[in-house]
Amino acid sequence: MEELSLEFVRVVEEAAIAAARTMGRGDRHGSDQAAVEAMRRVLDTVPIAGTVVIGEGERDEAPMLFIGEKVGLKQEYSETVPEIDIAVDPLEGTNLCAMGVAGAITVLAASEHGGLLHAPDCYMEKIVVEPAARGAVDLDAPVKDNLRAIARRMERDVEDLVVVVLDRPRHEKLIADIRAAGARIRLIPDGDLSAGIAAAVVGTGVHAVMGTGGAPEGVLTAAALRCLNGEILGRLVIKDEAQAERFKSMGIRDHKKVYTTAELAPGREMIFAATGVTDGSLLKGVRFFGEGVRLHSLVLTLATRSVRFIESVHLSKRADVKVRF
Ligand code: FBP
Repeated sequence: MEELSLEFVRVVEEAAIAAARTMGRGDRHGSDQAAVEAMRRVLDTVPIAGTVVIGEGERDEAPMLFIGEKVGLKQEYSETVPEIDIAVDPLEGTNLCAMGVAGAITVLAASEHGGLLHAPDCYMEKIVVEPAARGAVDLDAPVKDNLRAIARRMERDVEDLVVVVLDRPRHEKLIADIRAAGARIRLIPDGDLSAGIAAAVVGTGVHAVMGTGGAPEGVLTAAALRCLNGEILGRLVIKDEAQAERFKSMGIRDHKKVYTTAELAPGREMIFAATGVTDGSLLKGVRFFGEGVRLHSLVLTLATRSVRFIESVHLSKRADVKVRF
């Protein structure tokens, strides 16, 4: 499966170019649609028999990249192509792209069949920490205890930590607790997935992510963190009766279960690929420079433990184009 990693980079790159063309138009649905269409088109050129397990929603609400949709070049290669589960967030931070604000990325994770939890499209309570703090936090512990544990593992004071939190009214108490404990906070308008990846990479200035965000984003974070040795703990949040029924139909019995990184993304093989759309803590955004486009991507592979930051230049077809260093 490893050999597919650069193929998946093509997929997230093309989605990023398409989304970046819509940057700042104030149309989040248009931005998302551009990314989805590009991702779908390129996925069908990759030699896999893929099934979308995390995508744009159920078949009736999403024309493309819906859960259960088959993707890949299966027909041409018949039995020789691997059967793979695919999780996508074609544009993580649709608002960020629509407003031209930092932190929008395009994302894809792939694993063998069953390697990614089929999380329902609901909220998830999460805590994400870097490798040094793995095993030190507990989703049910008081915020101050988790922050002390992270600080101890990172050999610094709680006051030195930066915790990323989605700027939402539901996080009022969490924010007050983090402030009371003395840690610093970075409130973000959207994008707890890219924040989660940044938390697992030393030197980004992000030490933890706390709070409630999307469950699909939680699974994608876990796929990246399996490769980066970070940790995410997550618990699904039920909104209403309809969602409780949906959980039941998906075989989720224990609503209080805290999922570990390995339970969210249990695959033996894992590939994670993301491209920056707008500038972020980890990835630069798409830059169009007249003679082409420059892209910044991250691709992670679990089996070979590779972490690749890739800067690509796609040149325009003009005969006189130049590449700058
Ligand atoms: P979209 O890319 O779908 O716009 O999601 C962005 C996001 O901020 C995620 O990063 C986060 O997990 C989720 O939305 C939070 O949901 P909500 O906006 O409902 O609080």
